[in-house]
Formats: sequence, C-alpha cells, structure tokens
Amino acid sequence: MSLLFPNATPRDFAIRGALLRWYHANARPLPWRGAKDAYAIWVSEIMLQQTQVATVIPYYVRFLRAFPTVHRLARTSFERVAEQWSGLGYYRRARQLHRAAREVVARFNGKFPDQYQEARTLPGVGHYTACAVLSIAYNRPLPVLDGNVARVVARLNACRGNLHQVAFREQVERQLGCLLARRRPGDFNQALMEMGQTLCLPRTPQCSACPIQKWCKAFQEGNPELYPEPRARRPTERRHLAAAVVLRGNKVALVRGMDEGLLGDLWNFPSAFGESRKQAVANLQRKLAAHSGSGARPGPPAGSVRHTITFRSIQVTLYPFEPPPSRGAFRWFSLKELDRAAVSQLARKIAAVALVTRP
Ligand code: ADE
Repeated sequence: MSLLFPNATPRDFAIRGALLRWYHANARPLPWRGAKDAYAIWVSEIMLQQTQVATVIPYYVRFLRAFPTVHRLARTSFERVAEQWSGLGYYRRARQLHRAAREVVARFNGKFPDQYQEARTLPGVGHYTACAVLSIAYNRPLPVLDGNVARVVARLNACRGNLHQVAFREQVERQLGCLLARRRPGDFNQALMEMGQTLCLPRTPQCSACPIQKWCKAFQEGNPELYPEPRARRPTERRHLAAAVVLRGNKVALVRGMDEGLLGDLWNFPSAFGESRKQAVANLQRKLAAHSGSGARPGPPAGSVRHTITFRSIQVTLYPFEPPPSRGAFRWFSLKELDRAAVSQLARKIAAVALVTRP
C-alpha cells in the first residue's frame, strides 16, 4: 500500500473516499459523463476549456450528432466544423480539434492516444487537456488542476496565495497528487471539478452541504471565501495615442511596427503615444516624417475610440493626413480586406470610425 500511495496520509484517504461517495450520489448528468469513448470525452474537454458547462451542453450535443466519430470529424471540411462551432467562440480550438482529429486517424489508427507524451503531440492538447482526457477515458492516474480544483484544495489545506504564483501552484499540485484516487482518477478529478462548480463557490461557499467540511482548514478558520487570495491587480495605465488616417478611395494605409511594440507584428494605423493628446499628435507628426519623409501636418481630429489592452486603457484620437510619399512601407486595406488580414482589433475599430465618418 505504501508503495502505491507514497505520500497519502490517513486524512487524504478519508477525504478521497468522501469525495468519491459524494460524486456518485450528486454528479450532474452531463452529456459527456458516462461516455466510454475517448473521442467524446476529448471533444467535451476542448469545449470546456474556456467555456462554462451550461453554455457547452447544447453545442456538445449538436457537435456529436454531426460528427459522432473521430473518422467523421476528420473527413469533414473545416467549414462544416466551424458551422457547428459557431457561437461558442475561440475558433482556434475548433481548428486545432479538426487538425488533431485528422492526426488521430492518420497516426493513431483512429484511437485517441492513451500515453501522455503521445497525446501532447496533438494540436490543442496541452497538459490540462491531456490529463483530463487520459484520467477520464483511460483511468490514467493524472491529477487535473484548474481554477475550481485549486480553490477546493486551497481551502481544504488553507494554502495562501493564488494560481498566478509558482509556490502556490506547486504546493496545490503536491497536495492534489497525494489526494488523487489512483484507481478512479477520472471520477476523482471530476468530483473536485464538480465541488468547485456547485458547492465550493468563490464568494458563497455552501459549506453546510460539503462532504469534506470536517477536514477543511479554511472552514475551521471561519472564512473560506478568503481562499485563494485575489490576484494583485496591476493599476490601469492611461495613455493617449494619435493615429494617422491616410485615405485613398475606400482604402486606408497601415504600417507594421510603428506603435512601440503595442501590437507586435500586426498591421495598424501609423500611430504614436503621448502623455497628452497634443503630445501624441506632435510625436506622430515627427514619426511620420522620419518614416516616409512626409512633412504633412495633421488635419483637425476626425473622431476617437477607446481601447483596452490588458492593463492599458488607450484613448485614441484620429487625425487625417495627406497620402504619404511612396517610400514609406505602407499597405492599403479596404474595410473588407481588414476583416481577413493580420490586422489588430484596434486597427479595425479605428477603420470603422475613419471609413464611416470620412468627409
Ligand atoms: N470542466 C472541464 N472538464 C470538465 C468535466 N469533465 N466536467 C465538468 N466540468 C469540466
């Protein structure tokens, strides 16, 4: 026994048993529960990655009706997959699932791999998804750690911190490894997810209904909602950005790499930051002159948009400029082309204002 469960204490065994009994009596009958087929479990885990259970259910049912097997999914066109995914968001997941289905057919004879390292070679299958699918579909003893699970474990053992801190993560992972039910890891992982989603809620934990209350250190302390600790918020930085609107017919001129790294390699309107609106437009004029040799002066402001990127709140003011001379590295985009190109969301917002309000 000690070899099988090297670090598990009698308390861990008791908690594990109570969790599994509770799960068997109380698990919601979600459509992927009880699926024997790894493909069906895999699809559910991909859909659940950034989306809540209640939202996923109708999409999941429709998707599996349209593509009941990995072979059917692999054979279909991406357009058909996108149709079924439409409304669920994060289309990258659908694209990767479709690619991975083709790989499962081509490389693994249509069977989702039961080895962690092989599963990880599939597009869209990261550590979390591999552990979830392998534990649920193949009973592999792999713990699954997401925000809900971390909250349950942090409260159980009164761990200070939050998932953005390495020390907290490592501590919770270690404790989860001790708690994990080796013989029923899939049920165990889903029991913890279920606890986090239905009882051990962030602000209103339902401790009176909790099957592991008597072992819970945060409950004993009296304030379980204080775990995990909130993430330290970076204060919002407010900046002004002046954007040059250079029009030719129904097209706008965009550049790359002229926004101090804000948008990386994406196309954007020529732009410059400043502490004030005035300073931003002066900087823009200087940058345009250096970029294209244009001595053009900005016209009066032609609109504004607000845009937030992580901790930056950006007030963007649009200024019409005369067409630049040909030596600058500009590219011309119509509104329609903007939809498909590697253009930032910010540029799309600016274009919507610029092309609608143009004289
Ligand atoms: N979230 C991610 N995987 C889940 C599962 N199998 N059941 C419920 N919620 C989940």
